[in-house]
Amino acid sequence: MANTILVGAQWGDEGKGKIIDVLTGNADVVVRSQGGNNAGHTVIHGGKKFVLHLIPSGILRARKICVIGNGVVIDPIALVREIDVLRGLGVKAGKNLLISDCAHLVLPYHRALDEQRELRKGHVKIGTTKRGIGPAYGDKAARTGLRIADLMQPELFSKKLNAKMRENNSILKALGAKPISFAKVNADFLDAGERLKPFVANTVVYLHEALKAGKEILFEGAQGTFLDIDHGTYPYVTSSNTTAGGACTGSGVPPHRMDRVLGVMKAYTTRVGEGSLPTEDAELADMLHEMGREFGATTGRARRCGWFDAVATHYATMINGIDEIAITNLDGLDTVDPIKVCVGYKLDGKKLEVPPSDSAQLTRCEPVYEELPGWKRSTERVRKVSDLPKEARDYVNKIAEWTGARLTIISVGPSRGQTLIL
Ligand code: IMP
Repeated sequence: MANTILVGAQWGDEGKGKIIDVLTGNADVVVRSQGGNNAGHTVIHGGKKFVLHLIPSGILRARKICVIGNGVVIDPIALVREIDVLRGLGVKAGKNLLISDCAHLVLPYHRALDEQRELRKGHVKIGTTKRGIGPAYGDKAARTGLRIADLMQPELFSKKLNAKMRENNSILKALGAKPISFAKVNADFLDAGERLKPFVANTVVYLHEALKAGKEILFEGAQGTFLDIDHGTYPYVTSSNTTAGGACTGSGVPPHRMDRVLGVMKAYTTRVGEGSLPTEDAELADMLHEMGREFGATTGRARRCGWFDAVATHYATMINGIDEIAITNLDGLDTVDPIKVCVGYKLDGKKLEVPPSDSAQLTRCEPVYEELPGWKRSTERVRKVSDLPKEARDYVNKIAEWTGARLTIISVGPSRGQTLIL
């Protein structure tokens, strides 16, 4: 294995957590480089279910170093809680976890502003996870954010926090929301800072040393390509670069040290929150929800569901430079027949081969479908590609052909064993 960037090729929730867990077996270091605790990576490990929000999934395996890079936004209280939950479940977080001193902090006023902005947008709301992600990245871009490095210097932190709280409390008051107590936030954050101190490092230096020592690094992408702040369905996106480039800027590892990009995509499409989803299909959603599938790992919200969108994944392959693809949740389609795949969009009578940049135009796009026969039997126990029903093999091969990258992994269930490697 080489240094690998793993990205979501759809709207997030592609089943990245499980694929990362499988790939981590060969990696030495696992890095998160963007997003925050809006992410929820579900991994079944030792028969137990873990949902990781900030800590890379590599933490579940012995002798793997996990890095939370400079591009991540960290809610220190949530991170301490995650460490404690893991410890309670017998998972060690000690020298195997490093946190960048350049990572920005998510503060309670970011969460309050996230909530207020969503409330005020009414029916045009983004449908955020309300974790304060947008306002925290907003402060970072405006150069007014607080970082882990600040938290490591209590006096300086309290001074900066006081100024920020005054500014944000006046905004919250103007919006009709309750102001937040400086004393409480200051005390809680300084406590959390003390707990996080042993993990804080210059992670750029650590990663370059790891590269020099020939260690293999896995970059664990959060969210998905169409939630990217630049390339996604703006404004219905998150506030970081979820595409492959984000792994470089969010970790300090240069592009020429990246060896491959693996795109994870579901055998169908899902999305949480607002914004267009061209292949959305209520019947497919009802069927998946009835099977107990497709509920958000972070917020528990029912995900919107649609058919596989080859226009979107082809575009994602281009933006990310995806070399290989992993198709997940194939078993979700075990009972569906026929199966539709979107191979083009129609907008104002014209056929489009890439999604339009404008969200309103995307909403007006009509998917052009091809139908493939279903396999109508369970794939959950299949362990070899050659044992998949012929229709299932044809389906995944068609997806690879339409997407334009090499198919290397197929997942037919949540556990590590339910993974077919090509
Ligand atoms: P935010 O990242 O909380 O600001 O939310 C912005 C949009 O991204 C919303 O539509 C969320 O539902 C979506 N989103 C954020 N994180 C995830 C994720 O981990 N999986 C899927 N969707 C996400």
